[in-house]
Amino acid sequence: MLESLRSVVRLKPIERDRVARRLQSAANVDDLRAIAKRRLPAGVFDYIDGAAEDESAMGRNASRFSDRNLVPRVLRDVSSIDASTTILGHKAPMPLIIAPTGFPRIAHPDGELATAKAAAKAGIPFSLSTMGTRSIEEITQVSDGRKWFQVYVWRDRELTKDMLARCKESGFEALYITVDTAVLGRRERDVRRGMTLPPKLGLDTFIEGALRPEWVWDFLRSDPIVFSNVAVSTERLSNGTADGSSAVTLAEYINSQFDPRLSWDDVAWLRSEWGGPVILKGIQSVADAKIAASEGIEAIALSNHGGRQLDASPAIIDLVAPVADAVGGQTEIYCDGGVRRGSDVLKAVALGANACMIGRPHLYALAAGGEQGVDHLLNFFQTGLEHTMALSGVGSIADADSSIVQEHH
Ligand code: GLV
Repeated sequence: MLESLRSVVRLKPIERDRVARRLQSAANVDDLRAIAKRRLPAGVFDYIDGAAEDESAMGRNASRFSDRNLVPRVLRDVSSIDASTTILGHKAPMPLIIAPTGFPRIAHPDGELATAKAAAKAGIPFSLSTMGTRSIEEITQVSDGRKWFQVYVWRDRELTKDMLARCKESGFEALYITVDTAVLGRRERDVRRGMTLPPKLGLDTFIEGALRPEWVWDFLRSDPIVFSNVAVSTERLSNGTADGSSAVTLAEYINSQFDPRLSWDDVAWLRSEWGGPVILKGIQSVADAKIAASEGIEAIALSNHGGRQLDASPAIIDLVAPVADAVGGQTEIYCDGGVRRGSDVLKAVALGANACMIGRPHLYALAAGGEQGVDHLLNFFQTGLEHTMALSGVGSIADADSSIVQEHH
């Protein structure tokens, strides 16, 4: 009896590390999202998870990926698969980039430090946001990997210039100019909750906090969350720009601080100030992609900000082939919005993207398990991409062309 029981019951060894144990059950990005939802106060989760207005752009980003299938080729030797590529002239083990996102430390106290370390280990670029919660200098202290900075253009140009100077001093490789945020999109989950950043610890947060004690404990125990990049430059310039040490709504902040007059002339100004590679993030039309290419911009990121800006914007994967047909080879093309698996990455690169970027997925991973969570996510993408390539009969990224993607409606 005991013998026969023993033959069918095989107990998994118990994982002793608490975080590793939690991550073991996360088989994909949706699972990481579910863990994040359990661990974060609802207002924080909704800021990360939500999008503009009816959230239709966010939905379209995802559904238009699933409207495409791969056309597997069989009987090809797939015993060795190579998912590596080059991004801005440097080799990367896969065509993936950590997208810049605001306020990672609301997901986990280590915030960007954890993500930058995980990205460096995985050999892919990490991007820090102007609205980040760790400074340019702090990132350099923990990562000798590839580091990119996303800049908003402030009404106060000195602040922008100072951030560029700091990026140069700290060995940042490339600069994103985000061009889809003339004003902040209307995120209705945040409107309903009166969400501020950093989150105010109001009565409701504490009531919620009783249900999420670990988050509240981490939040209270770690140094205050401020807009670290703004804080450093503000101090250097002593110009008194709000650095988030008192809570504001993001819409108020962005609408009062960032310059809605931003135009192609400012892009030229920024490029000459910077002198290194520039990525225009938020291009959503063939017409603008063509202008970018004719200006000699090094890369464009096709992005609708994860559906957080214009809700009526096009699904990102729909833009890839037309933009690649128009400007592929003249400028690198990245895309984000709905990238959740290796198969999404393969579809995007087959249609002409040089790499994909991931925003929400890395914040879910951070919330689920800090640096280990992001390691888990990047491993999921690397192995998932290789696995999909093997099943599709694609041995290398250069072999992936649009003939392997089929659209259905
Ligand atoms: C910031 O850029 C955001 O999307 O919340």
